[in-house]
Amino acid sequence: MDTRSQTVLITGASGGIGYELAKLFARDHCNLVLVARSAEKLTQLATELQNQFGVTVKTIPLDLTAPPAPKFLFDQLQRENVPVDILINNAGFGAFGEFAVIPEEEILGQIQLNVTALTHLTRLFLAPMLKGRQSKIMNVASTAAFQPGPLMAVYYATKAYVLSFSEALANELRGSGVTMTCFCPGPTNTGFAKRAGTEGSRLLKQIGAMDAETVARDGYRGLMKGKTVVISGTRNWLVAESVRFAPRKMVTAVSRWIAEKPE
Ligand SMILES: NC(=O)c1ccc[n+]([C@@H]2O[C@H](COP(=O)([O-])OP(=O)(O)OC[C@H]3O[C@@H](n4cnc5c(N)ncnc54)[C@H](OP(=O)(O)O)[C@@H]3O)[C@@H](O)[C@H]2O)c1
Repeated sequence: MDTRSQTVLITGASGGIGYELAKLFARDHCNLVLVARSAEKLTQLATELQNQFGVTVKTIPLDLTAPPAPKFLFDQLQRENVPVDILINNAGFGAFGEFAVIPEEEILGQIQLNVTALTHLTRLFLAPMLKGRQSKIMNVASTAAFQPGPLMAVYYATKAYVLSFSEALANELRGSGVTMTCFCPGPTNTGFAKRAGTEGSRLLKQIGAMDAETVARDGYRGLMKGKTVVISGTRNWLVAESVRFAPRKMVTAVSRWIAEKPE
């Protein structure tokens, strides 16, 4: 796929994996639409990419947990005649703690952003993609998608949704000219852990995290090849695959153990 003159929409582009993905697309001469809540960070990144790569970058500061936000975004781009060739549903967050004590707005916010906004954006942007030229969608799930996650029950469940939804859609879209990729990073050094409250967990202390640049590159390559599921990192791939052969109860217990924060 020649990415020159293509437009890529990336949600959650103000930091972490989305930020690194934006740089990779700009390097390959794609024009960008960057979405996140932090207007200033988006403007800063846009200026950097415009100056360095000579691409056009549009920023749209938006809180995607607000139910009308996906339609607002779609309508604005339609009005301005900006066709989206590649949609990257990357914005997402997690919240650590027992389900019974996590504030309701954190629980519902994860579902709204990780599931509802992602699904709504996919539906909105897919329709014009099916009528136009070759297009791509990448939904960012996680290795959390492959097993239940006590102490992050809702987050893991939202990512299981993203994986299942994306695989099903990839099948429906076969031969349509639109590819669907589900990208599954493992632990990655970004603002995610601080926001989620997972700093100090066994997972991060004993197993560690990959850097965002490497992770983004894995996602980018998989997307460009039109792969359906892309797991970043060999160790993450092994873990994700191995849980299929282990008893579910044991997998859930191990998942809790690595999420815990030892004193
Ligand atoms: N880091 C990991 O260990 C890891 C592992 C597996 C999967 N993932 C997934 O990778 C994706 C990217 O996460 P990351 O690690 O890069 O985390 P991050 O550094 O926290 O970045 C998250 C991005 O999403 C944006 N965002 C958050 N809430 C938003 C909202 N309500 N509306 C619009 N944008 C919002 C943030 O920008 P603003 O704050 O400016 O809105 C930021 O740009 C997420 O879907 C995450 O679940 C991460």
